[in-house]
Amino acid sequence: MGLFRKKKKNAPFASNAFQKTLHKNLEFTAVEQYKLLRTNLDFTLPEGEACPVIGVTSSMRGEGKSTTAINLSYVLAEKGSKVLLIDGDLRIPSVAKKMGINSSMGLTDILMGKGAQISDFQSELLNNWYILPSGEIPPNPSELLGSNRMESVLSGLREKFDYIIIDLPPVNIVSDAVSISSLITGMIVVIREDYTEKKDLEHCFRQLNLSNVNILGCVMNESKNEGGSYSKYKKYKYYKQAPYGETN
Ligand SMILES: Nc1ncnc2c1ncn2[C@@H]1O[C@H](COP(=O)(O)OP(=O)(O)OP(=O)(O)O)[C@@H](O)[C@H]1O
Ligand SMILES: [Mg+2]
Repeated sequence: MGLFRKKKKNAPFASNAFQKTLHKNLEFTAVEQYKLLRTNLDFTLPEGEACPVIGVTSSMRGEGKSTTAINLSYVLAEKGSKVLLIDGDLRIPSVAKKMGINSSMGLTDILMGKGAQISDFQSELLNNWYILPSGEIPPNPSELLGSNRMESVLSGLREKFDYIIIDLPPVNIVSDAVSISSLITGMIVVIREDYTEKKDLEHCFRQLNLSNVNILGCVMNESKNEGGSYSKYKKYKYYKQAPYGETN
């Protein structure tokens, strides 16, 4: 089977099985892959940048963005860094549900100055891991994510954390990931093997390149190559040089 699928499947993954794909419930192989992603990231992030802000996006829905954002932030925190995971999918947020936490307060409350404090969002699993749900769904997610207010909130948060990971909606569906691109250090693009379509990924890269975002690399979610069955991290350069490899 090639890297890309020609026809989309309807249900990408069994939704009731998602807990097995997250943080402390991960299988050994998956944990190792996320640790590798953590290590590789250190090589692609700009040297000496205090608190990089890393967006996680993909071309379409259901490719594993939220799973990747949760697990990446978890392995970073597990190693001792102070990490903030933000649910920046202000249209169909899923981080709070996946983590089983209260979603009534979150990013939009902080953006609106509604009195929410970041200390309220400390995770019960690790005391150096903070999880900020989306908050109430706003009418204008794209404008909000790219706003001056978001910029100043992020710059305040950067003083408190070592890493900020933002789970974003897909690039080809809405402009939110592109809107926030000038406020972040770089973007990780998730590709789901045997699901992501080549034309969709090309469109996604075109949009991200137009916004001048620094694409840090790609995560191959559910990759079946090289013994592992989970995520693999590839440098974006690979996709530039050999666009999308052998597809069939
Ligand atoms: N490697 C994996 N193996 C098995 N299931 C997975 C894997 N990655 C993600 N899933 C499952 O696939 C579903 C979609 O994943 P996820 O929510 O992370 O995707 P997404 O790209 O964030 O979707 P959306 O665009 O809707 O926000 C979830 O049920 C999740 O548990
Ligand atoms: Mg998601």
